[in-house]
Amino acid sequence: MNQSKTVHFNNKVLSGTIAVPGDKSISHRAVMLGSIAEGKTIITGFLDGDDCLRTIEMFKQLGVKIERDGTTVLIDSPGIKRWKNPTAELYAGNSGTTARLMLGILAGSNISAVMTGDESLSGRPMDRVTLPLRNMNANIKSDIDTDLLPLKITGENIELRAIDYENLVASAQVKSAILFAGLQAEGITIVREKTISRDHTEQMLTHFGAKVQTDMGNVSITGGTKLYGSSVDVPGDVSSAAFFMVAAGMIKGSSVTFTNVGLNPTRSGIIDVLLNMGVKIEILNQTAENGEISGTVKVSHDKVKPTVISGALIPRLIDELPIIALLATQAEGTTIIKDAAELRVKETDRIAAVTNELNKLGANIEATADGMIIHGPTLLSGGKMESYGDHRLGMMAGIASLITSEPVEIEDPACIDISYPTFFKDLEKIAGN
Ligand code: S3P
Repeated sequence: MNQSKTVHFNNKVLSGTIAVPGDKSISHRAVMLGSIAEGKTIITGFLDGDDCLRTIEMFKQLGVKIERDGTTVLIDSPGIKRWKNPTAELYAGNSGTTARLMLGILAGSNISAVMTGDESLSGRPMDRVTLPLRNMNANIKSDIDTDLLPLKITGENIELRAIDYENLVASAQVKSAILFAGLQAEGITIVREKTISRDHTEQMLTHFGAKVQTDMGNVSITGGTKLYGSSVDVPGDVSSAAFFMVAAGMIKGSSVTFTNVGLNPTRSGIIDVLLNMGVKIEILNQTAENGEISGTVKVSHDKVKPTVISGALIPRLIDELPIIALLATQAEGTTIIKDAAELRVKETDRIAAVTNELNKLGANIEATADGMIIHGPTLLSGGKMESYGDHRLGMMAGIASLITSEPVEIEDPACIDISYPTFFKDLEKIAGN
């Protein structure tokens, strides 16, 4: 039986400073590249959430030595060509990033393995990566025509060939799987994107010594370069900070400061939207390391105006759309979110889930095929909110409880550990409890 958690904050004014946990996307990639590379890698600021821990476990099964002490990870790898076959299935849990990126990595290794996932992941599309990987000569088989998990990958005696691929879904997971396979392929692999997705893989491949070039949405990688261990310092996850940024923007008198938060321009769409919606944002300092920008951001309440979110902005804030929808319920007017059909194939159908859960509290949201139309402002009552086992839905419910008239009972809040294990601690901290 999944437990529930009841929270209520009565519009408390929020204040203080938060250092959010490490970036999920960067943490995955740091472990992946540290394991592909030969030698020692040290990762600091690692996100010790469930998804990234799944990635670590997989590489341990492949014979990579990995030790973790909290948010510091030490990797000592023999390099991709000297991994050993796992003795059990590789379990990706709830993590789409682990599953899709690992398919690209394993395709060009000497490993044979079966990859599985939990119920949610087993229903999510994998053909977006298996089809291009098969074009590169990867041997990936599914018992089901639709290419869902479990998938069997046979890496032995496979020579991958480079491809020139147009990525139509603006998915960094697809781009990354192809680039990882391209690292082991003969020739130059190119991924072309009309709408640019997050570029952490390109940045980190370059940092580890791979030959990568980017030009207006086209990324190319030259296969065959051997990589050596390095060090990676992971900045805080802007997708986690987004929950408290919205909270501070939503509640009168509030002002919260976020230290060491990732501000990579392919991820910082939330800042643009908060500004468009009238929230006050100050970037207090910025540093850049290995292609990743981070800084201190102060977010304060001012106004909450409606906005339109569409097109190239969508991949820059795809994971933030549930919490932006909550903010839009407080705006004077109608907010439109479109071009975001990808939300339907996330950990849950986030268009249906956000609409159901917020409308239950009294919001006025219409779900559309590729987004939501949110009519504000609406007062939100309290009551039960489902997380659907989706961390971002669980956190949206937690933030809603800051402004509801009655307590919110969050069903299955444990899923929040996937990306933000200290979420409730930080919530209590800025609410002064
Ligand atoms: C991620 C890419 C995005 C995002 C996910 C993490 C990544 O997915 O939603 O949470 O780390 O590459 P898509 O690539 O499917 O858009």
